[in-house]
Amino acid sequence: MVQATVALPSRDDLYRPVSSLMAREDWEQLFADDIEAILALKHKHDAVILAHNYQTPEIFHGVADIRGDSLALAREAQNIKQQVVLMAGVHFMAETVKMLNPEKTVLIPDEMAGCSLAEGITAENVRTLRARHPGVPVVTYVNSSAAVKAETDVCCTSGNARRVVESLGVPEVIMIPDEYLARNIENETGIKMHTWSARCEVHERFTPPEIRQYRRMHKDSLHVIAHPECAPEVVAEADHAGSTASMISYIENNHPDKVLLITECSMSDNLSTMFPDTQFVRPCNLCPHMKRITLKNIRRSLETMSTEVTIAAEHQEPARRSVERMLAL
Ligand code: 13P
Ligand code: SF4
Repeated sequence: MVQATVALPSRDDLYRPVSSLMAREDWEQLFADDIEAILALKHKHDAVILAHNYQTPEIFHGVADIRGDSLALAREAQNIKQQVVLMAGVHFMAETVKMLNPEKTVLIPDEMAGCSLAEGITAENVRTLRARHPGVPVVTYVNSSAAVKAETDVCCTSGNARRVVESLGVPEVIMIPDEYLARNIENETGIKMHTWSARCEVHERFTPPEIRQYRRMHKDSLHVIAHPECAPEVVAEADHAGSTASMISYIENNHPDKVLLITECSMSDNLSTMFPDTQFVRPCNLCPHMKRITLKNIRRSLETMSTEVTIAAEHQEPARRSVERMLAL
């Protein structure tokens, strides 16, 4: 175990946030040592841990300093004081942090933590789309590589996609790489979208019959919230569609007795501890990329200061500008 030169919270305090999700003895055996080691390493290296809402509860509640959806994490990345930033999330999220903080050390515990959307399009594909639709602005979902962002006019997240698209004041947009997000925003705004064929491998698996089945089982009391990376037919079945942060706001504002989150599995686990009066019905799909991040590899990452995220010099400035244009909105 790492020698702590900092006063750590007691084990009772560390366990409390996940006490409704796992037995104390399991937590002690599986997670407690790593959590204490990570807290000590953060102190030693002056490091901060950012965690996406899809991280497992022992990470999300155990070691994260800043938690949120992609938009919140990008916003927070602009104000980081620490010299070392560890991203408990996927690679494009770590790249966004590095873009906004080129002088800091940005770590990702597993560089294979990718994303089917980010891998679904290349910079060359963007140039082809531009040539096909001359003069049409390119809006790129942050779930994309730095090379693709560098070809982009402005980025968006699921939390601000509508606002970003409407801010352009144009009748048509190239919106990439998520075909479903683009179609959902087209339905909301009436602005014509030229799309790409990439999809989120987690959200594309949900279907309308699955949601109808849950409605039949739970009757009127069920509130269904879908992520806009789902197919438009799935979003049409939901009471609300929005980013993972928007899902939290919906529950805060509506106090549903029962909620079905059409998204990644850890979301319901993490929120069930924050909203004990809401019952979370749990059909979910796991993101294999998000699940590559574990307490063990977070600890190793801080012990070895690896893997450091880098961005090719030619992509750094243009990619950063497309993210900053989004954040300025
Ligand atoms: P948000 O948390 O921004 O809604 O993104 C969801 C997602 O799939 C991130 O990979
Ligand atoms: Fe990518 Fe989907 Fe996983 Fe998010 S949930 S990282 S969009 S594959």
